[in-house]
Amino acid sequence: MKNVIAIDGPAASGKSTVSRGIASALGYLFVSSGHFYRALAWGTVRDHLSNEGIAEWIGKRSLDVNVSTGGLLLLLDGEDVTPHLSEPDVAAKVSVIAAFPAVRDYVNSRLRSLAESHSLVMEGRDVGSVVFPETPFKFYLDASPEERARRRAGEGKIDSVAERDRLDSTRATAPLTIPRGAIVIDTTHLDIPQVITAILDHLAKNPPAASPQ
Ligand code: C5P
Repeated sequence: MKNVIAIDGPAASGKSTVSRGIASALGYLFVSSGHFYRALAWGTVRDHLSNEGIAEWIGKRSLDVNVSTGGLLLLLDGEDVTPHLSEPDVAAKVSVIAAFPAVRDYVNSRLRSLAESHSLVMEGRDVGSVVFPETPFKFYLDASPEERARRRAGEGKIDSVAERDRLDSTRATAPLTIPRGAIVIDTTHLDIPQVITAILDHLAKNPPAASPQ
């Protein structure tokens, strides 16, 4: 396995932008694990799927991951999911389908296989706790609920952050939690460059080994 920097936290805690910045500074591949769940959520919307059929449905899906210079491209059943990832229907469905163990197993195997070929900065809800519990590089970003709702509203997105947080924190399988050994950063009063600097400073003091070729 190559190096993995795991960045977890609730919705709108700054994970994506910070993770992209860290990946760019280190020359690692940025991976949003949420995009994998959103890709599948879009598929369930597309197929008018009820939750009961999800385990059988997922066995028939093909989720391909293409790594290009621009980052990751996800194709569900051959179709680029990028235009659909932020659709309101998808945001409303994603935390519901992410609670199913069959969905999580499906996503986890794809996330883990990426680390065989690339050093990663991966953000999500269970990256440090479940997907890569063995990585020594774990961070957990948080911010007050008010600040997180304000950030999402500022992006002009329709997103039920509070409801997703509730579902993500209370599900039985891989709930959102602070991974053992994670460095916790409260970003409520920090801007993005300050959070990136805090993480890079920590990594400079505890550097990842040169990743195996
Ligand atoms: O990070 P993002 O907001 O795109 O994640 C969308 C949803 O995907 C989360 O609210 C959560 O339900 C699910 N998710 C997850 N585990 C991850 C990443 C995302 O359950 N590692």
